[in-house]
Amino acid sequence: MQDAYGREINYARISITDQCNLRCVYCMPAAACVSAEVLRPQQRQVPQDTYLSAAEILRIGTVFADLGIHDLRVTGGEPLVRSDAVDIVRSLKKIPDIRRVALTTNGQLLGNMAASLKPAGLDGINVSLDTLDAVAYRSITRGGDLALTLAGIDAALAAGFSPVKVNCVLLDRDRRDDALGIAALARDRDIRVRFIEMMPIGMGVNFAGVSGGEVRNILEEAYGPWEPAGAADGSGPARYGRFQGFREAIGFISPLSDRFCGKCNRIRLSSTGFLRSCLHGEAGINLRPALEQQDDVQLRDDIVSAVNSKAAGHRFSITADGQEQAEQAGPGAAPAFMSQIGG
Ligand code: 5AD
Ligand code: SF4
Repeated sequence: MQDAYGREINYARISITDQCNLRCVYCMPAAACVSAEVLRPQQRQVPQDTYLSAAEILRIGTVFADLGIHDLRVTGGEPLVRSDAVDIVRSLKKIPDIRRVALTTNGQLLGNMAASLKPAGLDGINVSLDTLDAVAYRSITRGGDLALTLAGIDAALAAGFSPVKVNCVLLDRDRRDDALGIAALARDRDIRVRFIEMMPIGMGVNFAGVSGGEVRNILEEAYGPWEPAGAADGSGPARYGRFQGFREAIGFISPLSDRFCGKCNRIRLSSTGFLRSCLHGEAGINLRPALEQQDDVQLRDDIVSAVNSKAAGHRFSITADGQEQAEQAGPGAAPAFMSQIGG
């Protein structure tokens, strides 16, 4: 369906939990050092029983499909910490008008699960991975085990996911070597790498990040010219290109330096049933009441209103070159954590 700005909305990100088995420094506070009282109410983790059930997610997915939203991504937090994650994928994939169901994961639990996700019908896996240095990985994720995520990628490739995508967010320019190492995955293996700019969301405000252009310069020094290519995959915001001799494409997703809101095709469902129309800001609608009343007509109307409330674009106030934008984030626009928004 189209939104108020004529954009075709055909993609939904469905967060199935805001819990995560990692605590990446730019995403979440370290639970141990931030008490719940300090956080704003919407930042508190929600009690387990407020999560949408698998049946409710299926119901919403069915209405999405009906409205032409036929491309789904299951996210978190970390979606694989939810015990019915594979069942959710399977049931979404069975909806007749759903074309594609993909998953974004940190990969820690993927080693054991990739083999069941493939027969469940999953079409694609994105693994978040910011460094190939085990010590740095442990520190950035506050406790994660790099070997597990690498084993998860291996298992996904072995299960037939081709290519596996790796998403990399660099904290700052000091992580230059990580950019080189992660990019080399696309040189050597069936892995499509995308560098995503750090967004001023959640704890991301504490890090400088590295713009897509800067990452490209770093990579070009080592690997030669990056030749832009057509869209290496469907509908997303990544700009893809290739380095000579690389098996797979390298992409840049640059929400700050290459604002792509004008082509935005997506909405986001939180694990508690809030349908958010933009990554930035609070606009959207709580689908819970319609679900509780088993009212699919209302559910559909609510989804249509959420799409219609979609803003023209994000209002992150700082552009990549450090200039203040004229428009400022208004009250209530302070973003929640990425783990609640679903990435
Ligand atoms: N900016 C950009 N990406 C972020 N992610 C989490 N927080 C941020 C942020 N502030 C990314 C993770 C993961 C995905 C789920 O969201 O790196 O790839
Ligand atoms: Fe978990 Fe992903 Fe956030 Fe890291 S970025 S804490 S893996 S949700």
